[in-house]
Amino acid sequence: MAELEMQEYEQLNRNKETTYDVIKVDKGTIEMNHLVIQSWSQFFKNVLLILIVSLFSAGVVSIVTYFTICAQLEQKLADIDRKLAKIEKKNMTKLQETDNKENTYLDNNTMCYNGKSWQRLNDSKSCVCAAGFLGKQCEYSDGKDTSFMVVFHEGVRSPMPTILVASESTARLSVLYFNNNTNQSITIDKNNTEYILSTSVLPSDGIHMVGVEIHSDVKINVYGFLNGDRGSEGYLSMPMKFASTKYIIPTLTAFTAGYGFKNLLALLPIYQNTAVRTLITASKPVFVVSGNQCNYAVQLQISKGGCQPFIELILPTDQLDNIFITPHISTRLNNTVRIQTANSTKLNVKFGNRNISKTLKAREYWDFYYNTTSFIFASNDILVMSYPHGLEGGKGDPFMMTIPGVNQYLYEYDFAVPTGFDSFISITVKRNSIDGVLLDGEFPNITSVLNISEGRIHYSTFSVPISDGAHHIEHRGKVRFGLWVYGNRFYDVYGYPAGLAYKIYH
Ligand SMILES: *[C@@H]1O[C@H](CO)[C@@H](O)[C@H](O)[C@H]1NC(C)=O
Ligand SMILES: *[C@@H]1O[C@H](CO)[C@@H](O)[C@H](O)[C@H]1NC(C)=O
Ligand SMILES: *[C@@H]1O[C@H](CO)[C@@H](O)[C@H](O)[C@H]1NC(C)=O
Ligand SMILES: *[C@@H]1O[C@H](CO)[C@@H](O)[C@H](O)[C@H]1NC(C)=O
Ligand SMILES: *[C@@H]1O[C@H](CO)[C@@H](O)[C@H](O)[C@H]1NC(C)=O
Ligand SMILES: *[C@@H]1O[C@H](CO)[C@@H](O)[C@H](O)[C@H]1NC(C)=O
Ligand SMILES: *[C@@H]1O[C@H](CO)[C@@H](O)[C@H](O)[C@H]1NC(C)=O
Ligand SMILES: *[C@@H]1O[C@H](CO)[C@@H](O)[C@H](O)[C@H]1NC(C)=O
Ligand SMILES: *[C@@H]1O[C@H](CO)[C@@H](O)[C@H](O)[C@H]1NC(C)=O
Ligand SMILES: *[C@@H]1O[C@H](CO)[C@@H](O)[C@H](O)[C@H]1NC(C)=O
Ligand SMILES: *[C@@H]1O[C@H](CO)[C@@H](O)[C@H](O)[C@H]1NC(C)=O
Ligand SMILES: *[C@@H]1O[C@H](CO)[C@@H](O)[C@H](O)[C@H]1NC(C)=O
Repeated sequence: MAELEMQEYEQLNRNKETTYDVIKVDKGTIEMNHLVIQSWSQFFKNVLLILIVSLFSAGVVSIVTYFTICAQLEQKLADIDRKLAKIEKKNMTKLQETDNKENTYLDNNTMCYNGKSWQRLNDSKSCVCAAGFLGKQCEYSDGKDTSFMVVFHEGVRSPMPTILVASESTARLSVLYFNNNTNQSITIDKNNTEYILSTSVLPSDGIHMVGVEIHSDVKINVYGFLNGDRGSEGYLSMPMKFASTKYIIPTLTAFTAGYGFKNLLALLPIYQNTAVRTLITASKPVFVVSGNQCNYAVQLQISKGGCQPFIELILPTDQLDNIFITPHISTRLNNTVRIQTANSTKLNVKFGNRNISKTLKAREYWDFYYNTTSFIFASNDILVMSYPHGLEGGKGDPFMMTIPGVNQYLYEYDFAVPTGFDSFISITVKRNSIDGVLLDGEFPNITSVLNISEGRIHYSTFSVPISDGAHHIEHRGKVRFGLWVYGNRFYDVYGYPAGLAYKIYH
């Protein structure tokens, strides 16, 4: 139960010197610092914090379970648990609702989001969504936007920090470096999707303000990418406006070796060996990048290949979902999946010939291993991460990838594939809609489809090879599908979701 409450940002900023806000730990073993470097406030009017959560090792520090701040919150948590007990009574009917979502009859009182505000539906039969919005009430954004932030945790073997940008048209970008508050202008188009950042964006031991903010004149998708010798990884960057205040950190225990034991601190180190995962709440919107310096996903004695930095931008608890199909990953059938709850949740998980029902408490996690595909249904929204295992002979290392839920699928994606890897995309789609997927205007060659069903829901998942650079994929029937991008290289790998639908809150 490690709960960190961030202080009001400006308070930390009052004096011009480097300031530490210390969260004391009652066992007296560790002090956790988070910090604001002088003149931070000059950088942002509407401040966004960046947390880089670095999980390096299980063995370095003695384990701290209670922070002083946590004690004060216990009563609140107990109240929430009581409410949850009631919520849990609701059963699997939500699944059916989702299946019918697009066809459900809407009454006159339904609210539609028009891209700027909510309006009553009145006489029409369905909400008409503005460009970039989707869902029955247009309550989801497609995630293409003009403002992003990209940060990394420290990599190994001097990686090149990179951004990958997917844009339908030529985009002029201002890249604002935090280290000197200076913009650099770059142009991105379909032939030019990769931009190598200065290594000044990489944190090293200690606490740093490093990273970039990206502003574009047209809507784009951005991926943060560490291009390293045997240590690459990438993540889908979230638009700045979806930064949020509550996160649960899902990352696996680091199965570390050698340099993995170095205790590196980025902005905020978090050690979590307890069954209940760390909750981060912040008084201002923040992003959380999570990863390891070096992880194998499985114990060393059964690992194949090398270790990897496992970077993902963690989705906040207000951008989670409750139905998931884990994708078929080309070359990697062996896979560990971590389910992370925010609130107490009933789970129904299906893979192979197994059908498992479980109840997890708030902030608990559960891992399962499978080698086909899996179906996950939860009574509350959860975070699902996939950790495809490494391959023998250096054909590809393990990695970490966020699994967006079925309600977060898009029906069209613009995405970017990094150069230098044997890359693939994976798709999950309703079984009767496989034929509608158009990749760069053509029907992809689909082989080895995995099918999975639960009740009336039938899904298929498959993967196809993909070339470097910019791509566009869409469903000609406007059916929503899940899309992931990943690739192998000698003792190397990367992987990230290509995009996802974000819930609009206003
Ligand atoms: C589940 O929902 C259905 C339909 O609303 C209801 O008839 C049934 O009693 C519910 N079951 C439980 C265990 O709550
Ligand atoms: C519904 O009616 C209200 C009041 O006349 C109007 O302001 C609103 O724009 C209408 N909504 C739509 C979606 O047309
Ligand atoms: C919606 O409003 C229109 C116009 O006021 C009315 O004719 C229609 O019956 C209403 N429909 C429903 C389902 O209430
Ligand atoms: C950097 O560029 C952005 C977007 O063009 C602009 O809003 C911002 O003021 C610039 N910052 C500096 C320090 O020039
Ligand atoms: C990309 O390259 C192709 C082939 O060289 C060229 O035809 C096309 O105009 C280029 N596109 C852009 C946006 O520069
Ligand atoms: C600001 O920092 C970036 C990255 O370190 C560097 O590339 C750029 O030249 C610097 N700009 C100025 C004006 O110092
Ligand atoms: C998957 O794991 C099993 C059991 O550990 C192993 O025998 C098999 O070789 C693995 N398959 C791949 C493709 O790594
Ligand atoms: C799996 O379990 C759920 C709930 O226990 C049940 O509704 C469903 O029918 C089961 N499916 C199969 C294939 O056994
Ligand atoms: C998949 O996993 C099952 C049980 O975990 C095992 O029996 C089977 O051999 C595995 N298949 C492959 C191809 O690794
Ligand atoms: C968890 O429970 C709280 C309190 O009921 C609620 O506000 C929040 O939306 C829930 N979050 C998830 C992910 O279920
Ligand atoms: C599909 O496969 C055929 C034959 O193997 C090949 O000619 C064609 O180019 C492939 N299409 C795509 C989109 O890869
Ligand atoms: C999966 O579903 C697809 C589409 O219906 C079908 O073509 C394929 O044969 C199925 N595969 C298996 C292994 O059942």
